[in-house]
Amino acid sequence: MKKLKIALVGVGQRGLQHLQALSDLKDEELISIQALVDPFKENLDNEKIKSYVPNYDEKGVKYFNKFNEMVDSVNVDAIWFVIPPNQHKNEIIYAAEKGIAIFAEKPQSLFLDEVFPMAEAIEKNNVPSICGFQMEYDTWYSKVRSYLSDKEVSSIMMINCGAVETHGVKHTIINKNDGPQDRIWTADRKWSGTSMVEAGIHQTDLMRYWTKDEIEWVSANYVERPLHLQEKEGDNPIAYHVSYGLKKGGIANLTLTKPAGVFFMERYDYILTTKSMIKFEKDLKVYGLGNDDYDINLGREHFKNNNIYKKEEIENIIAKGPHNDPMGKENTKKISENFIKSIVEDKPELRNNSFESSINSLSAVLAANVSASLGGEKINIKEFERSTKYSKFRKK
Ligand SMILES: NC(=O)c1ccc[n+]([C@@H]2O[C@H](COP(=O)([O-])OP(=O)(O)OC[C@H]3O[C@@H](n4cnc5c(N)ncnc54)[C@H](O)[C@@H]3O)[C@@H](O)[C@H]2O)c1
Repeated sequence: MKKLKIALVGVGQRGLQHLQALSDLKDEELISIQALVDPFKENLDNEKIKSYVPNYDEKGVKYFNKFNEMVDSVNVDAIWFVIPPNQHKNEIIYAAEKGIAIFAEKPQSLFLDEVFPMAEAIEKNNVPSICGFQMEYDTWYSKVRSYLSDKEVSSIMMINCGAVETHGVKHTIINKNDGPQDRIWTADRKWSGTSMVEAGIHQTDLMRYWTKDEIEWVSANYVERPLHLQEKEGDNPIAYHVSYGLKKGGIANLTLTKPAGVFFMERYDYILTTKSMIKFEKDLKVYGLGNDDYDINLGREHFKNNNIYKKEEIENIIAKGPHNDPMGKENTKKISENFIKSIVEDKPELRNNSFESSINSLSAVLAANVSASLGGEKINIKEFERSTKYSKFRKK
């Protein structure tokens, strides 16, 4: 089978995780790694790279500090773009115009004005594309998606209790005056576009993946980080309370928190259809009778005598635990592997999203920021993408 020739742009935290997956896929003879690009030479140091990716093999890999020089001199079939979202300079357009397939990490950019031309170039040149939403390759989440495929989703409640980003895990070197030199860029609003954009986009996209739906409107309220904490913790909000209206009629709520000093993370998800509830327990469970064959007039007598439905009648396991970290290594490899196979074997159905189809997830989180800045104003996503009313919020 043909090996896909690939390049990686941005050899930082996520880039190194991709490089681990890609090195494994190279060992499995699926690809060859042609080039790495990073503006900072310390990020292209073999010893440093191998301290993160022990089986990385630099033989045959060319290193570049400038993207255009790489594209103009190396023959590649696909490029993984893994750079901070405010740092794009039309690289994706340049690559698409050369017919190169695009793996774009989320968030695709912080500016819709920059994203639409990327999508157009990808469509026009008919190149395969995918955005880095690895949770779309999670086994449990695929089960949720297929369970929901013939149901009406009424409500999703998602609570993501996280903590503010800590120092020392990112690799972008930031110049004086350009941003948070001594602090992680994801805690800085100018660089990250808020944690809603940087992190909440994953959960937002997941809601769409589960429901096979689009976000039609958003209304959001944020709790800003007190000024006296911003010097140390960055200027992103402490808490994000976001409501999404789904096109098919349901409402999805995402609460995302980023207090400092917590060092513990937990997520709660409840998905309600008109007749059932999905819960993530040790196993993946659906609660509900699953049919209309019951008496809605069950009276007080039934409860008194404990004569109601038994646990096993209302509880269904749709996937057995344990549930591995859906954001982790396994799905990070799966998304790349599927993207590669989709191209080599010409099976577009292996791509669970495209650059174009992922724009709704990005627009939703960018519009959440705008809604929060306008006191919770309800924003229609299509209007946010097109109307002159919002043009200043789409600009770089
Ligand atoms: N899917 C996920 O789970 C996941 C996880 C972490 C990060 N990410 C995303 O990956 C992207 C990168 O984040 P990170 O955590 O790796 O940050 P990072 O700062 O650790 O790494 C970014 C790398 O890109 C390089 N870079 C900057 N501008 C560049 C340019 N113009 N051309 C080439 N390289 C450039 C930097 O030098 C650095 O090595 C972000 O968009 C982030 O949201 C996704």
